[in-house]
Amino acid sequence: MSNKLDRRDFIKAILAVPVIGGFASLFISPFIRYLKPSSGPLATAEIFKRPDKPSPVQEIRFAISDFPEPWSFKYFMFQETNREYTSVGEQIKTIPGAIVKTLKAEGKEDFVVFSRVCPHLGCVFNFVPVEDEVAAGYNYKPQPGQKVFACPCHLSVYDPMLDDSKGRGKVVSGPAPRSPFKFNFEIEGSEIVIRSLESGGIS
Ligand code: FES
Repeated sequence: MSNKLDRRDFIKAILAVPVIGGFASLFISPFIRYLKPSSGPLATAEIFKRPDKPSPVQEIRFAISDFPEPWSFKYFMFQETNREYTSVGEQIKTIPGAIVKTLKAEGKEDFVVFSRVCPHLGCVFNFVPVEDEVAAGYNYKPQPGQKVFACPCHLSVYDPMLDDSKGRGKVVSGPAPRSPFKFNFEIEGSEIVIRSLESGGIS
């Protein structure tokens, strides 16, 4: 009798496995898709495969000699591949950037490399090293010797030498909520190599 019961319980338990599994997937799958929506059939499996971190399409190199004196600057366009949870899969984004040679610190070359996407509403801002131009066009009178980035849309002004809680590029005038994103870069021999945008986004 008890043998019969044991066998019946065992068969019941085996039969219950797919039912429990079905119920579990009913809840787990929507939860994962809520965290990372996707249109692809392998989406749930792919979530565990690769990170969402953008990857640079190509690093950008400048010769240090391209910047002969403090406040020499150049603009560039940086491309990175971003994961998209749509049928497109991936998208290449182009981020305008600016590299500026600042005053020398401890005898070394010093540079700042900023995304030019304005943290206010996403316009592209400029480096405006002429103080009178800033005073006339951007509603901000720089201190003597102060060089700034300035946005033509709503006149936010950033000082590349001053820090806020996010690093250099403090807002000194206008509506922008914070300093712009910076690029990560290294000096390799006679070159400056820009490899990635700091994590956190584009604007
Ligand atoms: S978008 Fe730059 S200040 Fe508004």
